[in-house]
Amino acid sequence: MPHLIAPSILSADFANLQRDIEMINSSEADWFHIDVMDGVFVPNISFGFPVIRQINKYAKKPLDVHLMIVEPDRYFERFKEVGADIISVHYEACQHLHRSIQAIKALGLKAGVVLNPHASVYVLEDILADVDLVMLMSVNPGFGGQKFIKNTIVKIERLKELIAKTGSGAVIEVDGGVNLSNAVDLIRAGADVLVAGNTVFGSDDPVEMISKLKNIKVGN
Ligand code: DX5
Ligand code: ZN
Repeated sequence: MPHLIAPSILSADFANLQRDIEMINSSEADWFHIDVMDGVFVPNISFGFPVIRQINKYAKKPLDVHLMIVEPDRYFERFKEVGADIISVHYEACQHLHRSIQAIKALGLKAGVVLNPHASVYVLEDILADVDLVMLMSVNPGFGGQKFIKNTIVKIERLKELIAKTGSGAVIEVDGGVNLSNAVDLIRAGADVLVAGNTVFGSDDPVEMISKLKNIKVGN
């Protein structure tokens, strides 16, 4: 499939959120990436239900909700209620990951699992067939605008093989430090979805930046 672009709202201007949402609506972006942080799983707090509800009011593309919170199962229904289309939970935050994934799917939503940079893709071998998406963190979660961790490239390649081997239909999303210089390598390695926060919102022309990321072509 052609790769997808998911701008991260974490880097938007929260005093002009509607404007930034309309910008993404009018762009070639595919999803809205929504980062929820609880100050416990990660050393930062972002935003919660009221903000997501407002985003959903204007967003014309799917909401890709990335939960960086402990005990995420307590809130799946609430995230659905405020507009989530995809919910991804961290492998490191779920004691019963299989149950969490089934609970998200039972709500009729797409379910994803996220791996921190230190975690091996092989820990996912027995859950891959059940998930719609695997997100590889290419920075330590908690903040936008961090430096890309290069080891992610080889993780994508390993994960791609594992997905094929297990017959999983999961897509691979990469989150953190994505920019025009590493995007080509990410796509070539097998990334299906690129999250971009600072690269999009820190640019003089975010619509143009999204278009550049979207139109990267990788030769065979
Ligand atoms: C980090 C978040 C990312 C972040 C990406 O914890 O999960 O989605 O917003 O931002 P950039 O693209 O600026 O690294
Ligand atoms: Zn994220």
